[in-house]
Amino acid sequence: MDDSKNNIMPTYDIGKSYEYNFEYGPFYNEPYPQPFISTRSFKLLDFHLNSPFGVAAGLLLNSKWVNLYANLGFDILTYKTVRSVKQTSHPYPNCVHISKNSIVDLDDDTPLIGLNDSSHPSIDELSITNSFGVPSALPEYWQTDVEKAKSCLKKGQVLIVSVVGTTEDNNDLISFVNDFKKCSLLAKEAGADIIELDFSCPNSPAAEGELFKNPKLSSIISKAVKDEIRSTPLFLKIGFINNYELLDAFIKANAPFIDGVVGINTIKKRIITPDGNPALPGKGREESGVCGAKIRQYGFESAKSLLKLRRDKNYDFAVIGVGGAMTPEHINQYLDLGVDAVQAVTAPMFDPHLAFKFKQQLENSERDDDSRKAVLK
Ligand SMILES: Cc1cc2nc3c(=O)[nH]c(=O)nc-3n(C[C@H](O)[C@H](O)[C@H](O)COP(=O)(O)O)c2cc1C
Repeated sequence: MDDSKNNIMPTYDIGKSYEYNFEYGPFYNEPYPQPFISTRSFKLLDFHLNSPFGVAAGLLLNSKWVNLYANLGFDILTYKTVRSVKQTSHPYPNCVHISKNSIVDLDDDTPLIGLNDSSHPSIDELSITNSFGVPSALPEYWQTDVEKAKSCLKKGQVLIVSVVGTTEDNNDLISFVNDFKKCSLLAKEAGADIIELDFSCPNSPAAEGELFKNPKLSSIISKAVKDEIRSTPLFLKIGFINNYELLDAFIKANAPFIDGVVGINTIKKRIITPDGNPALPGKGREESGVCGAKIRQYGFESAKSLLKLRRDKNYDFAVIGVGGAMTPEHINQYLDLGVDAVQAVTAPMFDPHLAFKFKQQLENSERDDDSRKAVLK
């Protein structure tokens, strides 16, 4: 699967089902490059980290995946969103590439073109759409597996577990809130360092997938979960909010209960094949989440808005920038905005050496700093 011409080496086989990747993945046959260990200290909340970069929710399907990416030097590792009940994945195919010429414009409903071909663009142009519907094993399985994942971490790494509430009846808000609480507590008991609530899955029904646009209900959930998990830090995963007042209201309602905001999730768009058919066949999948290079501008915009709100209103939550960070330069651009940390999914899925490359740049800049200091002496 190595496409070394473009630096692309997928660890997830998008030509196979979610179950296949869960069972047989990740696909990686290289020696582990030895990442540079910085002399600087990076902190996220009270956690001391080797670097401020990691994998957001989605790619680390189970402990085998956490183990690989921990070994590859990704330091903030998020276990893919789990539920309190078993749920199967949307059927194969779950991911297709987005054509180079398609543009993600929130004011334009023109569908994007999805392509199955494997002639990847270069990593800094790569975008895909994904649609899984937040599958989950039973807690009996994933609790044991989260424990295993935790034991794979090295010094200077942290494990976030992403959870989502499940309800059979969208009008039964009490059981929805209670399920978020229950699932968060199960994740805490399994050893999560941080709990992340997925308030933003674009491939789920609105009640579950658009909580980040609902200040009242989201804050009822955040408060209930925080009361349950107490000292364990709580992060919220949000999607792109194209309206500063709504983001302000969402943050104001949730700020008293949370320790961090992670965003953005994928951006929902209609994806069709070049001959006009839905790229991901099946009911409710006409639209699916776009991620990778084509959403980077929205990730930056979201991070800037969150940082402005934090500054203006004296909040103290951490901001984790996500969306379209494909290269070390993009990670640095997020950090230059002032975020506390950066995570990605699409890039590490196709370039498992991204953390290593980021740390190489860190090493070069520390060396430059040292030689500048030596000249000044
Ligand atoms: C294959 C895949 C699976 C994902 N699954 C989840 C998920 O389970 N929970 C979640 O909060 N986000 C999920 N996401 C969204 C990512 O965490 C991230 O927010 C989004 O992909 C944007 O980042 P990127 O451009 O670096 O991929 C998934 C993304 C991808 C590509």
